Amino acid sequence: MSTSTGEKPLLRVKDISVAFPVTGRGIVRRRIGSVRAVDGVSFELRQNETLGLVGETGSGKSTTALAVLRMLDLSGGRIEFDGHDITRLGRARMRRLRRGMQMIFQDPFASLNPRMRIGRILEEPLVVHGLTGDGRGSARRVDELLELVGLDSGTRDRFPHEFSGGQRQRISIARALAVSPKLLICDEPVSALDVSIQAQIINLLVDLKRRTGLALLFIAHDLALVRHISDRVAVMYAGRIVELADRDALYERPLHPYTQALLAAVPRPDPEVETARGIGLLPDEPPRSIDPALGCPFSLRCPKAMDVCRCETPPLRMRDARAVACHLYGPD
Ligand SMILES: Nc1ncnc2c1ncn2[C@@H]1O[C@H](COP(=O)(O)OP(=O)(O)OP(=O)(O)O)[C@@H](O)[C@H]1O
Ligand SMILES: [Mg+2]
Repeated sequence: MSTSTGEKPLLRVKDISVAFPVTGRGIVRRRIGSVRAVDGVSFELRQNETLGLVGETGSGKSTTALAVLRMLDLSGGRIEFDGHDITRLGRARMRRLRRGMQMIFQDPFASLNPRMRIGRILEEPLVVHGLTGDGRGSARRVDELLELVGLDSGTRDRFPHEFSGGQRQRISIARALAVSPKLLICDEPVSALDVSIQAQIINLLVDLKRRTGLALLFIAHDLALVRHISDRVAVMYAGRIVELADRDALYERPLHPYTQALLAAVPRPDPEVETARGIGLLPDEPPRSIDPALGCPFSLRCPKAMDVCRCETPPLRMRDARAVACHLYGPD
């Protein structure tokens, strides 16, 4: 198991990298290097499965999501979705395939057009993908979508500002589901919402996955939420996956010192209820290397660092039915 899943995966991400240019300050703004926001990331996702993606700010989670959607150019690696190699697809073919992969963002207000009524917001993706049929068909579909996310069909004539944050996120989810995607990427979908509303949205996602067989890539800071929703969890640090395991294995027996530090920083009283704000408790900011640093990127902060960690980057290796990138678990 682990970076691979046995069954034929819906999404196969193999060794992808994304680099952003770093420019100098002066007027010319010459390119002086690049940030490797994502550096050799691999994972697979099958239908009806949720992969959680955690890691502190700047670790490359959103960049990974945008790269999977091909909204960013890759500097290396390969992405297969639903049996197609999408690594280098042109715009037109990518647009058709993108129907199968939708995304919801942290801030539903920013992603909904404030001047459109909800009915039109939900019809728009149907129009873009030529799925309207006759006019009545799309009206029925809008009602279905509203019902699917627990909103009254009477709300179709309202504008986004007439809803609460939680209701707006339901609308974003309905819009993403309009075209019946196979994969839904959720980037911090509840972090802008009240804790009480967060649970409702998470339960809605769990229910939708059960009903539709969706695959979810679920990005969040909140480790307790990720534990609740995920089947497997990948931990990112400085653009790399450092550990990827089944949910319970990861939470009950984390192997990588970074995963251990993340989990140790979660406030404990009742981890099922308490939202984890622990990531900020780790000392120091994560490193943002301009050139790929030699050695393990976590070695500067790692309490267990050895000499080898400062000169060799550990590959992601299988260990105890999981993948972990750490010299503590080196080749036997
Ligand atoms: N468009 C961009 N141009 C230059 N650098 C970028 C760009 N987008 C992201 N980065 C850099 O890439 C790295 C990864 O960013 P990313 O947004 O993927 O992190 P993240 O894990 O999603 O963080 P957060 O939890 O704060 O959302 C960061 O160092 C960030 O500054
Ligand atoms: Mg992000």
